[in-house]
Formats: sequence, structure tokens, C-alpha cells
Amino acid sequence: MSSGKIAVVTGGRQGIGRRTAEVLAERGFSIAIIDLAMPDEALAAIKAAGGTAMAHVADITDEAAIDQFAELVRAELGPASVLVNNAGISHIAAAESTASADYRRVLEVNLVAPFLLAKAFGQQMLDAGRGSIINVASVAGLLGVSDRAAYNASKHGLIGLTRTLAAEWGGRGVRVNAVCPGWVKTEMDVADQAGGSYNDADIINRVPMGRFASPEDIANTIAFLADDAQSPFINGQAIAVDGGWTADASWESLRLRKR
Ligand SMILES: NC(=O)c1ccc[n+]([C@@H]2O[C@H](COP(=O)([O-])OP(=O)(O)OC[C@H]3O[C@@H](n4cnc5c(N)ncnc54)[C@H](O)[C@@H]3O)[C@@H](O)[C@H]2O)c1
Repeated sequence: MSSGKIAVVTGGRQGIGRRTAEVLAERGFSIAIIDLAMPDEALAAIKAAGGTAMAHVADITDEAAIDQFAELVRAELGPASVLVNNAGISHIAAAESTASADYRRVLEVNLVAPFLLAKAFGQQMLDAGRGSIINVASVAGLLGVSDRAAYNASKHGLIGLTRTLAAEWGGRGVRVNAVCPGWVKTEMDVADQAGGSYNDADIINRVPMGRFASPEDIANTIAFLADDAQSPFINGQAIAVDGGWTADASWESLRLRKR
């Protein structure tokens, strides 16, 4: 059964979560995915590469479903040693026209659910005296991006939760960190761009390194934070994986002149 390397990935059906599940499987983790629909392609890819994976279909805002999932994972694979809180939703609207129901839903998925998952799987890690939790926040958790009041607040909150859990659980062997991706070419970006509020050039011109992040960029950083041998003393950090976005205060013509 258990090699002791068991990673839970939320939202592993597509995008960053799928690539993260695959990379962690390549590094010897047994994988448990939770998503709104069965992640058939992710499961097939992991199994074809010789890995072990299971999946559970549920909404991560359902607390009873999370507790059930935690018990399923323990029974099928063993206690979790890694949790990647990746599932999230975006919401693009001017603050003054953001409905309270939309605001609450974004907080439920992006901030409350990661807390519930951290409780359920963090307890398994605390019992074992070891573990690593990685919360997928965003550049929008470090800076305010216009027209994303709910999303920004949720990701800023997720970084606050990360620091708090790191302080509470670090002394019991459980590290908690956040990764803050810049814009990544996933289904989320395609759907957001379809709303007409930005395009590829807007992003590429804003990033010092002149490109989108790839799911691979984010997955490799998550795998680094998941690995006790590679990041044993990194705890409570929010690591930007953004090609320099949050470091760069240049105006656009100055940035582009340096390319
Ligand atoms: N794409 C980007 O540019 C970008 C940038 C910074 C941060 N992020 C963050 O990275 C994470 C993954 O983003 P992505 O671009 O891969 O998104 P995506 O929309 O492509 O995939 C998200 C996955 O999460 C699942 N999911 C959503 N709500 C769920 C729920 N309530 N219960 C269970 N599963 C649910 C979806 O079904 C989907 O499989 C998100 O937290 C997002 O906020 C994305």
C-alpha cells in the first residue's frame, strides 16, 4: 500500500492541478485528486506512466464531502503527506457591480475550502509528525489587480492562512507554503480572456520575462515545496512564480525597451 508519499491535489482534472498531479506522480507520490468531474485523462496519464492515482468527485466547499474524501484517501492510499490546495475560481467584475453572492462563492471556493482541506488532511499530517501543504494563491494575492475584488481578497486571505498554519504547525513537522503564479495559459485564462477584459499581449508586455507561466513552471515549484529533502526549512512563504511581475515597477515603454 503506502510508500509514505501520498499527495492530495484539488482541482487536478485540468490546468495547473493536472500538471502538478503528474509531476508529483513522476516523483514517486501516490496521487488523490478531488474535482467537480472525474479527471479521467489525468488518471490515465499517471497510470500510463506507472504511477498510482485515485479520484473523488465532489465540490470542495462541501465540508462533509471533504471529510469523506479524507477517510477514503487514508483507507485506499494511507495518510496524506502532501496537500496541494489548487482548485480555485476567478471572477472578473468591477467592484461596484460585484454581487455579494459572487463575492461569497469565490471566498467559499478559494479560501474557506482550502481551510477545510487543511484541517482534514493536516490532522493526518500532525498525527504522523510530518507533511507539507502548498496553497496555490496568485500574484493577485500579493497585489491588487483591478476588477477582481473577490478573487484578490480570497488570494490575499489564502496567504494569511498559509502564514498562520505555518506558525501553528511548523513545530509539529508540518510546513505550509503558498505559490503565487503570474498568468498561466490554462482553461481559466481562456475563459477569462473570452470575457474581453485582456489579451495575451497585455500579459506578455507586463512580464519582464515576456511570456505566460506554464503549468510546468508552477508544478515544479509545488513539487520542490512538497519535498522535505529539497525545502526542509521553508515554511510560511508565499513564493511568486511570475517571471518578475511583482518585482518590476518599470513603466511599459521602459520594460519593452530592455527586451
Ligand atoms: N491560470 C492562471 O492564470 C492562474 C494564475 C494565478 C493563480 N491561479 C490559480 O491556480 C489554480 C488553478 O488554476 P487553473 O488555471 O489551473 O484553473 P482551471 O479553471 O483551469 O482548473 C481549475 C480546476 O479546479 C476545479 N474546481 C473548481 N472549483 C471546484 C470546486 N468547487 N470543487 C472541486 N473542484 C473545483 C475545476 O473543475 C478545474 O478542474 C486556481 O486556484 C487559480 O486561482 C491561476
